[in-house]
Amino acid sequence: MEKNINILAIETSCDETSVAVVKNGNKVLSNIVLSQIDIHKEFGGVVPEIASRHHIENISYVFESSLKKANVSMEDIDYIAVTKNPGLIGALIVGNMFANGLSIRYNKPLIEINHIVGHIYSNFIENEIKLPAIHLVASGGHTTLYYMDKNMNIEKIGETQDDAIGEAFDKIARVLELEYPGGPKIDKLANEFIKENKKSINEINIKIPNMNGFDFSFSGIKTWVINYVNTLKMKNIDVNKSEIAYIVQSNLIKMLDFNLSRAMEKYNVNNIYVSGGVSANKGIRNFFKTDKKYINKNIYFPSIEYCTDNAAMIGCACYYKLINEKRN
Ligand code: KG4
Ligand code: ZN
Repeated sequence: MEKNINILAIETSCDETSVAVVKNGNKVLSNIVLSQIDIHKEFGGVVPEIASRHHIENISYVFESSLKKANVSMEDIDYIAVTKNPGLIGALIVGNMFANGLSIRYNKPLIEINHIVGHIYSNFIENEIKLPAIHLVASGGHTTLYYMDKNMNIEKIGETQDDAIGEAFDKIARVLELEYPGGPKIDKLANEFIKENKKSINEINIKIPNMNGFDFSFSGIKTWVINYVNTLKMKNIDVNKSEIAYIVQSNLIKMLDFNLSRAMEKYNVNNIYVSGGVSANKGIRNFFKTDKKYINKNIYFPSIEYCTDNAAMIGCACYYKLINEKRN
């Protein structure tokens, strides 16, 4: 394998237009992310058609800014990586067409990367790589557990059977009349509630759904919140949004902990990596870094900038794909 490998990576699977230049898997020379959140906020969620149109408008500018920031030209690039799937089809097409065009124009190999695999590798940009490991990808579209062996082969061992955890955060936030995306707003309210009510917190335990193996289900907690809020309203009791945010967040953490702790035991691993947009959640980060069950384990999270969708993780995943193919 060549000594230095520069990868130009492109990510357009949802509402972020992102282009990164990544050297040797973990040196992020640039990672430009143009978020459309402010545009979609108005509609309470991502509108696929609008997302595609904005990707078309922005991709050239984001690409040029990324090369400029990295201080490289296309001649310095060895491979082009692009998110192939899963994601919004129209949004993905924009990134894939652009990547294809660059690949033909500059005669560089094009490598297709799975978006969820990208999230997994977001943890290997800055953290040490300790294998075997369990990976939890918790995002707006996915909640999946993987076992990764010493050779970086991954096996899916559990996934949500209904809503993704980020989707549950966002839908519950809507019930509470909080702006999209609701995850960060619930996180903030829950933390404020803990700070203000340290001693008098009334714990409400929502039953952990009885699922097969390491599968998840998050739709029940959404129904619980709808019923709880409606009951309060019928009784003319004020809805305390930060209390509900706290109840939601602490119960979602229990659901993650239930599967992660059992997976760790079954697969006999001490290394856990959590990634995806929801891994930015302060309550989740704090729980896994302080709970006694995990104190002697290695728990890793990406930096906040690599939690939500970004192209640097796609560049990192591409690098290891090349390395592992070469080795096998
Ligand atoms: O990974 P991502 O950018 O997109 C997908 O691949 O889905 O994740 C976006 C999701 C949204 O549902 C958003 O509400 C959630 O990540 N999110 C959070 C936090 N920051 C982002 N959820 C809980 N707490 C946060 N701090
Ligand atoms: Zn994502």
